[in-house]
Amino acid sequence: MDFQELQEDIKQNIKYINEYIINNIRIENETLFQACIHLFNAGGKRIRPYIMRTVYSLFKKDNSLITPIASAIEILHTFTLIHDDIMDQDEFRRGFPTVHTKWDENIAILAGDVLHSLVFSIIGQSDFRKEIQTRIMIDFSKTLIKICEGQTMDLQFEKQENVTINEYLKMISLKTGELLALSARTGGIAAEVDEDLINHLSNFGLNYGLAFQIIDDILGIIGEQSKLGKPIGSDLRQGKKTFVIFYALENSSEDEQKILKDILRTHNLSEEKLKKGIEIISKSGAIDTARNLANKYLQSALDNLEKLPSSNGKNNLIQLTKKSLNRKF
Ligand code: IPE
Ligand code: IPE
Ligand code: MG
Ligand code: MG
Repeated sequence: MDFQELQEDIKQNIKYINEYIINNIRIENETLFQACIHLFNAGGKRIRPYIMRTVYSLFKKDNSLITPIASAIEILHTFTLIHDDIMDQDEFRRGFPTVHTKWDENIAILAGDVLHSLVFSIIGQSDFRKEIQTRIMIDFSKTLIKICEGQTMDLQFEKQENVTINEYLKMISLKTGELLALSARTGGIAAEVDEDLINHLSNFGLNYGLAFQIIDDILGIIGEQSKLGKPIGSDLRQGKKTFVIFYALENSSEDEQKILKDILRTHNLSEEKLKKGIEIISKSGAIDTARNLANKYLQSALDNLEKLPSSNGKNNLIQLTKKSLNRKF
């Protein structure tokens, strides 16, 4: 299975997910409706539903039962993005204005609330037997609470000068890792595989998610804005303590540390200062160190995938994991 086949497989999956989502958002109020569907129409990789459907297909032939749940995880992800963009004060995502920018913060909060609610009604209406349905519903709910904890830590770190590697890892495992763990795990839970395998799926997703966020943090500094579809340097503007930022804070000259600290405290950064911040981070060796760390988690993700039965789907998940280190968006 090569990369092109993986891309084709992702494209096929996206079709089912998009169709389900668009057919299931029903709101009379036109403004709220448009705000709810805005980010789905804007694009997005649909990685989480892709992982869930692929895992499920390793064990079951008919994918139609899992499609609503896979759509629900994308809806949940989208809801967190709408609210995240308010918190991070970002003006575009997926190459389009964010929901709070196109409408306003109140509409963005409400659109997020609608999508949040939709997640659980979709799970409740799915065709899995009751025990499985309830387990999935509780698992989604607990994961969402973890995401909120991670997002809270992310915000608290803006005000915290020094963040340790362990605090950072805890924060990203909560805000990002847990949802990817849920994506992989739910595929196994829905297919009723044994608990040992469910644990490996969950660990695959968690490790993949940790690497995914570290790479997102790198791209947020040295990525290409046109490919990424979201603003470069936003983390510096917001005073975020991403891996590359706090690494540079610890591994630069005293003068550079001073400049970087000043940049992190300034919200209305000039282009010139932003460039300087990016330069200090790049010079500190933070990018290579972050890539090595991400690679370590990708290796653990691959080790967990090894426990799965051989199939095209497994090969696709391996490809997805291997390719993510060099992703550009
Ligand atoms: C963005 O997730 C938020 C993070 C956890 C880094 P994605 O990179 O999966 O965003 P989309 O869905 O493809 O836009
Ligand atoms: C991603 O947060 C995690 C959630 C939305 C829960 P970030 O703020 O790091 O992601 P981007 O860069 O805005 O996509
Ligand atoms: Mg954020
Ligand atoms: Mg953000």
